[in-house]
Amino acid sequence: MQDNYVRIFDTTLRDGEQSPGATMTSAEKIEVARGLARLGVDVIEAGFPAASPDDLEAVRRIAVEVGNDGSDRQPPIICGLARATRSDIDKAWEAVRPAARPRIHTFLATSEIHMQYKLKMTRQQVIERVREMVAYARSLCEDVEFSPEDAGRSDPEFLYQVLAVAIESGATTLNIPDTVGYTLPDEFGALIAGIIRNTPGIENCVVSVHCHNDLGLATANTLAGLKAGARQAEVTINGIGERAGNTALEEVVMALHTRRPAFGLVTGINTTQITRISKLVSNYTGMVVQPNKAIVGANAFAHEAGIHQDGMLKYNQTYEIMSPELVGATQSKLVLGKHSGRHALKVRLTSLGYSLNEEEMNLVFERFKALADRKKVITDADLEALVSDELYQPRELFSLDGLQVACGTMGMPTASVRLRDPEGNVHIHASIGTGPVDATYKAIDAIVKSPNILQEFVIHAVTEGIDALGEVTVRIQSTDLPATVDAQSDTEQPRTFGGYGADTDIVVASAKAYLSALNKMLVASGKFGTPEKPATHAVVHSP
Ligand code: KIV
Ligand code: ZN
Repeated sequence: MQDNYVRIFDTTLRDGEQSPGATMTSAEKIEVARGLARLGVDVIEAGFPAASPDDLEAVRRIAVEVGNDGSDRQPPIICGLARATRSDIDKAWEAVRPAARPRIHTFLATSEIHMQYKLKMTRQQVIERVREMVAYARSLCEDVEFSPEDAGRSDPEFLYQVLAVAIESGATTLNIPDTVGYTLPDEFGALIAGIIRNTPGIENCVVSVHCHNDLGLATANTLAGLKAGARQAEVTINGIGERAGNTALEEVVMALHTRRPAFGLVTGINTTQITRISKLVSNYTGMVVQPNKAIVGANAFAHEAGIHQDGMLKYNQTYEIMSPELVGATQSKLVLGKHSGRHALKVRLTSLGYSLNEEEMNLVFERFKALADRKKVITDADLEALVSDELYQPRELFSLDGLQVACGTMGMPTASVRLRDPEGNVHIHASIGTGPVDATYKAIDAIVKSPNILQEFVIHAVTEGIDALGEVTVRIQSTDLPATVDAQSDTEQPRTFGGYGADTDIVVASAKAYLSALNKMLVASGKFGTPEKPATHAVVHSP
């Protein structure tokens, strides 16, 4: 591998999914993993298999379906996280072993504060555990990554010792995490440079960086680490992750690309896939991307100020350091409408990178026609929202069969909801609420009877104009499902689920989003078996 090649290790499905509310179903995880493979990431950290049997199974499916898909293309490495215990390492191995290129990633904290208060272990005990567990992981798998957790606050001299032991025991990648997002770019760069200079045997390993964003410095720290010699960056799509999140993949990749002379580093990422995967992850996790987010925010390429617009019209590089096309954020000038036929829709979807089978095409065309009756011009953004809403949803246990609301200043907001249950039976309920959405959610609750707390409700218009398609994302927390184990804190976390819905009627979009989150929660409860709608293969190539 070239010396200037930076491996992109994506942990959206592990560190990202671990953050409160970002829970995805197995089908969604596989779809995201497929998107990551198309994006060209080198490693997919698919999950923490010891968290639960469901997590193990989701990682195993990714190893089979994405890490060993039988195509000519070299599949990404599929990685599973494990605490430094035999049982975690066994589970990680069981999950990743079907992949063509499996990796076990094990970690143990090395900062005084973690060793004393969390692990209750001495330095010597930590060294011995690393020796034993890295060797054990290596006895199972040729590719082993080791992370000294909280390296950013660890004594560098002790780090050199621990890392040397990990190398002797067979680690092939050494990942240096700034677990709590505490370091500053010059400090983190110096830490990486010190590790490379002082750790015996490090020349035969890949050094990796993994930064959290508590001070908003994750991208800056990651870039400083790469400048100092690291050749793997651990990142997530949209920067999702614990607390303030992880380093955003799109920021690191576009910084290396746009400022290539400053870094002299390259990645294998197909940048035109960035916008699409960003939307996919946002829709599935229910974690909305802030409009001013670098690279993938709705305003990242919008020029509002007159003086900027004037400059852009004269020469776009006056205010644009990279083109929207480069990150796949373009909208076609060719618009579809009421009179567009199935062929035109298919051509447009194909050019957007979707390849739908007959059945999927029928579903999307039906939705497209219904939308075209209500909305004059259908843009690419509308089409993407529509495909997400129609095809990338969890299995529908309860589906919306009808909804009517009465609201305004004259009376009490009332919603009548008709739902179909998993056996096909129809249930009707009417409720009063503080507004039409509240009334709708109360009526749905009365039918579905699955207790939860609504943690977040976000609504936004996909395109401009009064006839815009509205997108709603919600996040709910289960009040009766058992919690899952968090890998790092060893604590139990309540289960939360995100949902997504799109419609020109925002109350309908809200109902769909809520049902999508409830359906995920019901699937996770196991009350309806483990039936998930098979993941669609709708997107197969880049435009
Ligand atoms: O932030 C962290 O320390 C981690 C490790 C498990 C790599 O996520
Ligand atoms: Zn982390």
